[in-house]
Amino acid sequence: MQRLLAWLDHRLGIVTLARASLLDKHPPRGIGFLRTLGFAALVVLALQFLSGIALAFHYVPSAELAYDSIRAFEQDVPYGTLVRSLHHFGASAFVVCAALHMLRVYFTGAYKRPREFTWLTGIVLLTLVLGFGFTGYLLPWDQKAYFATKVGTEIAGKAPVVGEFVRTALNGGDEVGPPTLTRFYVIHVVLLPLGLLGVLLVHLALIQRHGVAPPGLPVDQAGAKGPPYFPHHVFKEVLVGMLVAGALFWLASRYRAPLEAVAEPSDTKYQPRPDWYFLGLFQLLKYFHGPWETVGTLWLPTLALAGAVLLPFVDRNPERRLARRPLAAALGLGFVAAVGVLTWLGWRDAPHNEAVLEYPLGLTPQERHGYMLVRRSNCTDCHQHVTKDGRKIGERQHDAPNLEKLDRSVDEVAAILEDPQEAIGSEDMPDYAHLSLEDRRAIGIYLKTLR
Ligand code: HEC
Repeated sequence: MQRLLAWLDHRLGIVTLARASLLDKHPPRGIGFLRTLGFAALVVLALQFLSGIALAFHYVPSAELAYDSIRAFEQDVPYGTLVRSLHHFGASAFVVCAALHMLRVYFTGAYKRPREFTWLTGIVLLTLVLGFGFTGYLLPWDQKAYFATKVGTEIAGKAPVVGEFVRTALNGGDEVGPPTLTRFYVIHVVLLPLGLLGVLLVHLALIQRHGVAPPGLPVDQAGAKGPPYFPHHVFKEVLVGMLVAGALFWLASRYRAPLEAVAEPSDTKYQPRPDWYFLGLFQLLKYFHGPWETVGTLWLPTLALAGAVLLPFVDRNPERRLARRPLAAALGLGFVAAVGVLTWLGWRDAPHNEAVLEYPLGLTPQERHGYMLVRRSNCTDCHQHVTKDGRKIGERQHDAPNLEKLDRSVDEVAAILEDPQEAIGSEDMPDYAHLSLEDRRAIGIYLKTLR
């Protein structure tokens, strides 16, 4: 064994590396559980890669099939619902771990000399993660995906000079549509993971190089050595990592990742809402109108980002103890409070959209066409639909019979839709004579599937 290890080490250097980074490494005395958050983020990231790969094996990145492939993944693949929920809540967990880790670094002054570039790569990682969140949100191609992306790319389009270019490049055209889905998919599964892995390697290498900043000591003071990194601190990191992973599995097995009805671009009633970590930003936009709009969409976020990038170079105070950094403490707390309040306000104001008809898997193209027409024609404004599991969709008006109770042949439906007055003597049912016979028949064919 000894000889095998020596043989391997001579060629690969792994034993030397393990010694240097684990066994012979003595981080400064007094580092506790607050210094495990970065590792927790790493654990969540690993889970995101695994669940993401499982999803990618089944996901079809086309506007026609994306939604169905997600539904089929949940329904037919063993543990599909769990895996999708893991990936969904994992995104949030990652943002939480990364943000807490960043706050810890900020408030303990760990970004100071000589760790400026560890901080910078951390900021790049956080923006990449937000990019993952934004692009991933579109992939299920449901209502919330479509309309949030529409808002997001419109915001990008308002940036000066490059805005229009960025918007059309992301959209793959003028509007959010099928090409947008392809592009977001490539960004989500190729570009961002490549960028993330590259920057993450640099981030980790820099942490290896500089070690943990000694708590409470001014820069350039090494402080007393603590016990070896392995097993003392590794134990804490693994414990926290397991707790976070356990919490995530619990959450994902208890709550299902949301999936609304398939996207219908012509829907004018839908009120878009982003994922919770963009709610603060979304709220900010509501306070600036007209020529001031770009203050909320561009200048304030850019200011925050620029402030974070410049921080380790502008902040020359050598102290790490918070009590000796009153300005940094005030700025940090002010920023956290502002983001917290904006997110809370955004959460409170977030619109709730009425449930719309969900089509079952395995519809023929014609049935699917009929389904889309029924949604576009707002039939559920008068004809309520009660699903098999008892959810009520739409309202009942003028005593219109429930959709699943309509018992008419395809031709009868086509005739009723053309002229309800003549066909059933109804004054209350509007006519849909503007639809072609083929469209009206497609509605009749779809209605049969509800019975
Ligand atoms: C403004 C309200 C309203 C809307 C919108 C509406 N309907 Fe109706 N519909 C009615 C009412 C009321 C009746 C019952 C008429 C009666 O029995 O006198 C009816 C009757 C029907 C019937 C015949 C039921 C039967 O067997 O007697 C069908 C089929 C039907 N609607 C389909 C549709 C479809 C499909 C849409 C959407 C494209 C739609 N309706 C939109 C109000 C509405």
